[in-house]
Amino acid sequence: MKIYPEEIIDLRSDTVTLPTEEMLEAIRHAELGDDVFREDPTVNRLERLAAEKMGKEAALLVTSGTQANLISLMSNTKRGELVILEAESHIYWYEAGGVSMIAGLLPWPIESYSGAPSPQKVEEAIRPQNIHFPNPALICLENTHNRHGGTILRPDQIKAIKEVAKAHGLKLYLDGARIFNAAVALRIDVKEITRQVDNLMFCLSKSLCCPVGSLLVGTFEFIERARKFRKVLGGGMRQAGIIAAPGIVALETMIERLEEDHNNAKHLAQGISKLEGIRIDLKSVQTNIVCFDISGLGISDDMFLLKLKKQGILALTIGKSRIRMTTHKGIEKNHIEEAISAIESVKNDSM
Ligand SMILES: Cc1ncc(COP(=O)(O)O)c(C=O)c1O
Repeated sequence: MKIYPEEIIDLRSDTVTLPTEEMLEAIRHAELGDDVFREDPTVNRLERLAAEKMGKEAALLVTSGTQANLISLMSNTKRGELVILEAESHIYWYEAGGVSMIAGLLPWPIESYSGAPSPQKVEEAIRPQNIHFPNPALICLENTHNRHGGTILRPDQIKAIKEVAKAHGLKLYLDGARIFNAAVALRIDVKEITRQVDNLMFCLSKSLCCPVGSLLVGTFEFIERARKFRKVLGGGMRQAGIIAAPGIVALETMIERLEEDHNNAKHLAQGISKLEGIRIDLKSVQTNIVCFDISGLGISDDMFLLKLKKQGILALTIGKSRIRMTTHKGIEKNHIEEAISAIESVKNDSM
C-alpha cells in the first residue's frame, strides 16, 4: 500500500540538493594527491579560488559547516575564554555543544530581532578584566541567519560590530554557511561582507549543491592553526580532490542562480501570507528560507508536517508552531504552487 505520493517536493533544507552532472564529471576527472601532504592539486586549486573570492590570504577545505565552526572557535581562542554569539545562532543551537565540549569556551548569547545583534549589546557583553570573569576573545556572527529565516546582515551592520571588536581587542568571526545568498540578495561582491571580519567559513554543501564540504578562510596564520586543529579532529583527508572538484564547479557556476531560489521563497511566502490562521513576517523572507507560525490552525507541528507529507511536501519544524521551508536548486515555480495549495488544504482541513 502506498501512503505517500511518489513525487516528493523536499523543502526541508538546501542541504538535500544533489550534485549536478558537471560536478559528477569534475569528480570523475579530478587530479588527485594526498592532501595531508598538501599534494592534492584539486584541493589546492579550490582553496586558492576560495581565498581569492573572499579577499583573504588563505583557505582550508573541511568536512562540514559544523567542523568549520568548531575549528574556527579553536583557532581564534584559548580554552576557558568567552565567545559572544547570537542567541539563535547555529553554533549555539545545533552543534551539539562543541563550543564548550571540545573548544572549551563559555558561550555568551545575545538576543537580537533578526540575527543582527546591536553593537551596544555586544559591547555590554564585553565585561572588564576582572578575576571573576573569563577573558572575552571572540565575537561570532551568522550570515545569512538560519533560525531567523535566512535574514541578511548588511556590511554596515557587521562593520559596527567590527568596531566594537577592534576597540576591545576581540576577533570577529562569521559563520557564512550561506554567505553567497546574502551577497546575491544584496547585489554586492561577497568581499564587501568578508572584509568586515577577521575570518569566516562558508558551505559548499547547501545551496551550492556540492555533496560535501565547507571552507574556512582567513589569514595564512589562522589557516595554519586551523589545519592543525582539523588534524586533531580527524579531519585531515587524503585524496580530497573528489570533494574539491565539485566545489570548484560550484564557485564558478552556481552562485548567480541563487536569485531563483530567493524569488521562489518570496513567492511561497506571499502565497502563505494569504492563508487564514498562518502568520508570516514577509520582511524576514530575504533569501531562500521561509519561516511561519501555524498556531492559528489549532494543530500540532507534527500533525501539520504529517498532513503535508501525505501530499508530497516535506518541511521542518524549528520550534513550537514554527515551520521552516527552504528553496533550492530543483525546486521550481510549479513546486511552489503545489506547496501553497497543499498548505491551504491542510489549513482547510484543520480549521
Ligand atoms: C548557519 C549554519 N551554520 C553551520 C551549519 C552546519 O553545517 P553542516 O550541516 O555542514 O555541519 C549550518 C547547517 O545548516 C547552518 O545553517
